[in-house]
Amino acid sequence: MKVTVVGAGAVGASCAEYIAIKDFASEVVLLDIKEGFAEGKAMDLMQTASLNGFDTKITGVTNDYSKTAGSDICVITSGIPRKPGMTREELIGINAGIVKSVSSSLIEQSPNTIIIVVSNPMDTMTYLVHKTTNLPKNRIIGMGGALDSARFKYRLAEALEAPISDVDGMVIGGHSDKGMVPLTAHATRNSVKVSEFLSADRLDQVKEDTKVGGATLTKLLGTSAWYAPGAAVSGLVQAIACDQKKMFPCSTLLEGEYGLNDLCIGVPVILGRNGIEEIVTIKLSDAEEAHLKESAEGVQKTNGLLEL
Ligand code: LAC
Repeated sequence: MKVTVVGAGAVGASCAEYIAIKDFASEVVLLDIKEGFAEGKAMDLMQTASLNGFDTKITGVTNDYSKTAGSDICVITSGIPRKPGMTREELIGINAGIVKSVSSSLIEQSPNTIIIVVSNPMDTMTYLVHKTTNLPKNRIIGMGGALDSARFKYRLAEALEAPISDVDGMVIGGHSDKGMVPLTAHATRNSVKVSEFLSADRLDQVKEDTKVGGATLTKLLGTSAWYAPGAAVSGLVQAIACDQKKMFPCSTLLEGEYGLNDLCIGVPVILGRNGIEEIVTIKLSDAEEAHLKESAEGVQKTNGLLEL
């Protein structure tokens, strides 16, 4: 199993690190345009192998796509991250050009690859990959919901004063401050609805804290977060590589599901060796459905800024 991660910045390097630590891939290629940068990150990470106990071989390359040839999965993290006060949507001008050229270079070398898009604005970048490549829809996956759900579980555990492993929950919708739809009515603590333990006001607070999860970190760090994004990507990569048939909310092309068409947005999907093997349709409450519709309108508005 060969995995390529494009972009050796904080997010890309974290993806490579978590993929390697989980030790299911034979090879991870880290590619960056900055001379020597990916090579340096790869070497540093390889020097953790004997300490962390993994055999995954990580190599770094400067913009040499021939080294990515035959990748089963490619992760695109390249582009600029947001600065404090910026929305993910404001990155579209620069990142669209980068994502378009990176995806075409990757597919040239690995025509059978599955692509995971992380660059922001993620739902629109995922749609761009659909529009500009001829990959089938099951092989184009946007990473947002897995991360947003992890942040949701963190906030739920905090409110419940419970360990995170006791908590389950999912965030669907667009990967944006306004667009995320945390499914509070479906969230559980040991299979009991969290509404049994938390007031409606406290749950609303959890929802709001989840939606600005990335922005809160950007303010604290001065740039966007990387550990949880890297871990979330590694979870998707592992589910595909190991054919786990696990369910994650991912951005995928909708063709009528949830009453939505011709956009990529986060909904639950089953991930296995073929990428997105199924789009799972769950029953939403009226409020959740209305929120998802509003979220889709936001994504479509951003998609309208693409020069296709
Ligand atoms: C975040 C970026 C990766 O939410 O979108 O941290």
